[in-house]
Amino acid sequence: MPLSSSSTSSTKGIRRAVSELERSDSITVYLDCIAVLMRIWRCKALPSNTQRDIPKSPRFLGRRQSLIEDARKEREAATAAAEAAEASEQIVFEEDGGKALVNLFFTLTNSKTPALSRTLKVFETFEAKIQHLETRPCHKLQDSLEYFVRCEVHLSDVGTLISSIKRNAEDVKTTKEVKFHWFPKKIADLDKCHHLVTKFDPDMDQDHPGYTDPAYRQRRKMIGDIAFRYRHGQSIPRVEYTEEEIGTWREVYSTLRDLYITHACSEYLVALRLLERHCGYSPHNIPQLEDVSCFLKERTGFLLRPVAGLLSARDFLASLAFRVFQCTQYIRHSSSPMHSPEPDCVHELLGHVPMLADRTFAQFSQVSGRRHDLIFHADIYATLSLATCFSHQLYWFTVEYGLCKQNGEVRAYGAGLLSSYGELVHSLSDEPETRQFEPEAAAVQPYQDQTYQPVYFVSESFVDAKEKFREYVSGIKRPFSVKFDPYTSSVEVLDNPLKIQGGLEGLKDELKILTDALSVLS
Ligand SMILES: [Fe+2]
Repeated sequence: MPLSSSSTSSTKGIRRAVSELERSDSITVYLDCIAVLMRIWRCKALPSNTQRDIPKSPRFLGRRQSLIEDARKEREAATAAAEAAEASEQIVFEEDGGKALVNLFFTLTNSKTPALSRTLKVFETFEAKIQHLETRPCHKLQDSLEYFVRCEVHLSDVGTLISSIKRNAEDVKTTKEVKFHWFPKKIADLDKCHHLVTKFDPDMDQDHPGYTDPAYRQRRKMIGDIAFRYRHGQSIPRVEYTEEEIGTWREVYSTLRDLYITHACSEYLVALRLLERHCGYSPHNIPQLEDVSCFLKERTGFLLRPVAGLLSARDFLASLAFRVFQCTQYIRHSSSPMHSPEPDCVHELLGHVPMLADRTFAQFSQVSGRRHDLIFHADIYATLSLATCFSHQLYWFTVEYGLCKQNGEVRAYGAGLLSSYGELVHSLSDEPETRQFEPEAAAVQPYQDQTYQPVYFVSESFVDAKEKFREYVSGIKRPFSVKFDPYTSSVEVLDNPLKIQGGLEGLKDELKILTDALSVLS
């Protein structure tokens, strides 16, 4: 401890503190003494002219009778300051069995070297149990750190604790725990949902067929930039595909087209014919996203928006909730026309788009996306990864790799199957295991993203899959439900009875229209 021999009064203070410590084995007294020792040390550490300039703090009012008395005054002063602070600002905390859980933010300047130890001593003095502590550089104050502390303290000590922290730290705030992470509420919010997973990126994945081809990587980046610049409401810019790119498309399209007749579900075949007629689907042309988006909008209300690569599950599912499908625009490497480790326009346009043109399937896709509120709920209890897996695996074994029964046969409706010749053949062969679709089982089934699936789930129909999915989700506890408003393309959180009543009014109007229509028919 840096003590100066010239400071006799302080030295006496320390001696008194040691003497008090020797006389008492009480933890409280010990902590109080430590606080006083720290205070004396702080005064000693300052230059003499600074000491003269120190304004009289309420802590130093009155004559020091003993360290115990000082500690008592300290607590009284802090209590008074806390009461004054409470009058001007509210301290936020959660109450639990006589204890308060406090989320505390404050800033400590590095120029005040002992600030951290002093602050930690405050927590010690009030016997606050620190549950979490983290720091980050402060943007507002140079050479400073911002602290976040979550601690448990006795209910009666909250105000005094905060007040004491305020005397050591800057910018002290308490806040409620952030229980819900941000999620898009209106369709334009999707402009913020373009977080990519770089797992299969050709710039980083050595196994990507384009990893050793700088020209391919440059081309992919150029097309990806369209997506980063795109904003909701704009037309999707057209890409002039090269002969090499069209050649890759042609090879896949021609091969798969023949297989669809015997392997794809009837809804897919109907939609593909329409896309060939209206959107330029052919072996010799890569359809433009803008044309396909306009077609889907008319058929099922779905829109496309360009995306630069493999999207995070959260952003992808959030987009589906708005009937928006995030769609890549670049094509796989020409050396590997039958396989791409990441989504590309072959996967999107041949795998996903035809199914999104079917009303029942489109509804199922949106329902699975809207269930992303489960993910937000799960964040609270730190089970995000588990919940994400639940949603992700359900999506995987239906929208990506789903099979369904049709006229006594099993057919494919999953995009991962319908865009991959090898896996489409494999899925309907005798090799893999097929199980009846049950959301509880599909949600925990491990999946393969490096090779063919060993297990597929077969739905009785899309309607059956949607109903089972809804039932499964309704059994999971969550703090709120959300409702999609098609008039404003926004998601409303149904967190109070008035909002639910508003939704019921809308339903009543729609029911009235349908009842009137029935009466006209009869
Ligand atoms: Fe996909």
